[in-house]
Parts: sequence; structure tokens; C-alpha cells
Amino acid sequence: MQIYKKANLKSFHTFNVDVTCDVLIVVETQEELVFAYKNAEWEALPKLLLGKGSNVLFTDHFKGVVIINRLLGIDVSNSVDSWKLHVNGGEDWPNLVAWTVEEGYFGLENLALIPGCAGSAPIQNIGAYGVEFKDVCEYVEVLDLDSFSVQRLNRAECKFGYRDSIFKNELYKKVVIVAVGLKLPKDWQPITSYGNLKALPNDELTAKRIFDEVCQVRMSKLPDPMVTGNAGSFFKNPVVSTQKFDQLKAMYPDMVAYASGDGMKLAAGWLIDQSGLKGMSIGGAKVHEVQALVLINSGNATTKDIISLASKVRSTVLDKYQISLEHEVRFYDSNKETYLHELVSD
Ligand code: FAD
Ligand code: EPU
Repeated sequence: MQIYKKANLKSFHTFNVDVTCDVLIVVETQEELVFAYKNAEWEALPKLLLGKGSNVLFTDHFKGVVIINRLLGIDVSNSVDSWKLHVNGGEDWPNLVAWTVEEGYFGLENLALIPGCAGSAPIQNIGAYGVEFKDVCEYVEVLDLDSFSVQRLNRAECKFGYRDSIFKNELYKKVVIVAVGLKLPKDWQPITSYGNLKALPNDELTAKRIFDEVCQVRMSKLPDPMVTGNAGSFFKNPVVSTQKFDQLKAMYPDMVAYASGDGMKLAAGWLIDQSGLKGMSIGGAKVHEVQALVLINSGNATTKDIISLASKVRSTVLDKYQISLEHEVRFYDSNKETYLHELVSD
């Protein structure tokens, strides 16, 4: 276990913004994780567990304890019809996906190159290219922060939704994820319903081919956080009623949308792009030139620059389309989670 006081968080989150915290602890075992929560020296301070920090924005010095999850280890077993992977929460998700494709445990290939830890994947039910974490999840193992016992939730109990789960709702701040169980059918079926994947010829439909295609498309659209600070899609794609969609579609016939439950999911990147915001910058924060849903740190962006730009994007889209974008990126101030509407008014 490593413990640092007054630590810089720059290398522990992907926006690459200069920000600090009172205490930073890197944990490698469940015992160390429990120690980090219970230790009397900082028991009263707020705690925040992070994987790779690829979906967070710190708005201030964090007057608390940031705990970095590095619980490693993967166990593979199998039943008659599926491979079963028990993956500890600190495992790197993109490495896990690449490894499964090499080993012949197929089913994760559409979720290639999503930065972060395996233990963070259930929080917002990560998704890309037609697959979500829920589609491969058998169970999620959590540490209860009251009893400090480990419990297992099955897939249904996790209440997964679009960028949503029980961990953002009923179990918010009550548990942390220590491991995930993945179930990958041996009778693998390709999923090619999304975007460029539709164009893959039938005789090329192997898991490796899909993995390569997803990696190639992602690398062409999304900025690499190792080079350019960002946290992926800054906002969620808004879901509107079919009635609202029909009104919008009459005014904007090219609007990009997909059926979602009872409503329609609109492409927020399209809304931002069509609002003329691509490439717009405030200080060191910029709307990505290729994928307008991504806000980047184009140099020395401060948190204030990113918040001002996010606010400008939100108010412009609201004025033009009467749609209020909700941020996917999780904001943390000096001691708790916070939200764009609490930091700036429209
Ligand atoms: P962190 O950013 O460290 O944490 C995110 C939140 O989860 C925080 O609130 C944190 O406190 C909480 N948390 C983390 N670990 C735990 C735990 N073990 N127990 C309880 N709470 C925890 N997301 C997608 O869904 N699809 C994409 O295609 C996608 N593409 C991306 C591309 C780029 C370039 C980037 C930078 C991000 C992208 N994201 C995408 C967002 C991000 O990759 C995911 O949200 C990922 O799951 C975050 O993992 P992390 O370990 O970095 O989480
Ligand atoms: N679009 C534009 N202009 C832009 C960006 C997008 O017109 O600047 C249009 C595209 O042409 C396309 C549509 O919007 O028709 C959707 O774009 P894309 O396929 O890039 O997907 P997205 O909706 O912007 C979502 C996820 C991504 C995920 C991809 C692929 C959300 C918030 N984002 O992006 O996840 O990788 O689909 O499945 O749901 C993330 O969550 O961080 C993330 C990157």
C-alpha cells in the first residue's frame, strides 16, 4: 500500500488538470481497502475511490482521501456453454479486453479501448458499439461500507440502464466494487449493429476483426488521454419522448437519433456540432474538432476553463433545441460530488 499526503492527482485522472488532495492511497488488497476506509487518522474525511480517473473532473482541491483501486487478479473457469471470468476491480479494462480476444474468450471485443478499471465498468454500465457491460455481466461483488462484508449482486440486482446502475442510485456511497463476474457464451455471436461494424463482410466476422475495427474507429475519433487530456463523452445522449422527437425532426430532418425504450435517444455530438461549437475554446479547454461530444484539455486548461466551456455548450444546445444536456463526467469539489448546474447558472 502506498500513502501520500498533499498528493497531486494529475497522473490519477485523464483530464490532466493540476489538482491535489489531502491523502492519496493506492490499495492492492481488500484488507488495504478496508484499512483505507477505517483508519482512525482520516476516518472523518470524505473518501473517493477511483480506478483510472477517466470519467471524473475535480473542481477543487479535494479535502479528503482519494483511494486508487489496484486490486488485481483474474480467474477463469467454464461451464458447458460459457467461459466465466472473475476479475478483480483494479484490473485495466482495455488490457482485459485485448487479453480475452487473444485467449479465445470472445464477447468483450465491442468494448475495446474503453479506458478505466474493471471495477468501474458497472458504475455507469459502460457501453460502445452495440454492447453494454450488462450484456456480459454475471455478477458484481461489492464491499459494504457499513458492515465491511463482501456481497454479490446478480445482474438483475444491479439495475443497469443507459450509463446507469444501482451504484449511482440506491447503493450510492454505500458500497464499493471489488470484483466483477463476466459470462461469455462459448457459442460466440458477432454484434455488428453499430456504425462502421455493419459494413464488415460476413467472411471477416471474427472477434479479432471486430476488435481491430472498433480500435481503429475509436482511435480515429477519440483523443488518446495519454496525449490529450479528456474524459470521453462529456455529456450523455439525451433521451426524449417520441412526440418531442417528431417536433424536432420536422425542424431538423437530419437529426441523428436511435429508438430507446419508449423514447428516442438523440446524438448529443450531433446537437453540439450543429450548434456550431466544434473547435470552440475557452482558455485551455476545447470542443474536440472530430467528436464534438468530447471536451479536451488542449494545453494548460484549468478546471474553470472546462466548466465554462461545458456551461457554454449546455446553454447553446438548450437555446437552440430546448434540450438540457446532462453531464456523464462525474464532478468532485473539495469534499463531495457536485454538478454543472450547481457551479454555474444558465
Ligand atoms: P473513474 O473515473 O476512476 O471513476 C468513475 C466513477 O466511478 C467515480 O465516481 C468513482 O468514484 C466511481 N468508482 C470507480 N471505481 C469504483 C469502484 N470500484 N467502486 C465504486 N465506485 C467506483 N465510457 C463508456 O461507457 N463508453 C465509452 O466508449 C467510453 N469511452 C471513453 C473514451 C475515452 C477517451 C475516455 C477518457 C473515457 C471514455 N469513457 C467511456 C468513460 C470511462 O472510460 C468509463 O466511465 C470508465 O468505466 C471509467 O473507469 P475509471 O476506472 O477510469 O473510473
Ligand atoms: N456526430 C456528429 N458530430 C460529432 C459527433 C457525432 O454529427 O461531432 C454524430 C455522428 O456522425 C453519429 C452520431 O453523432 O451519427 C453518434 O456519434 P458516435 O457514433 O461517435 O457516438 P456518440 O453517440 O457520440 C456514444 C457513446 C460513446 C461510445 C460511442 C460508440 C455516449 C454519451 N457516448 O457516443 O461512449 O464510445 O457511442 O458506441 O453514450 C463515453 O461514454 O465516454 C463514450 C465515448
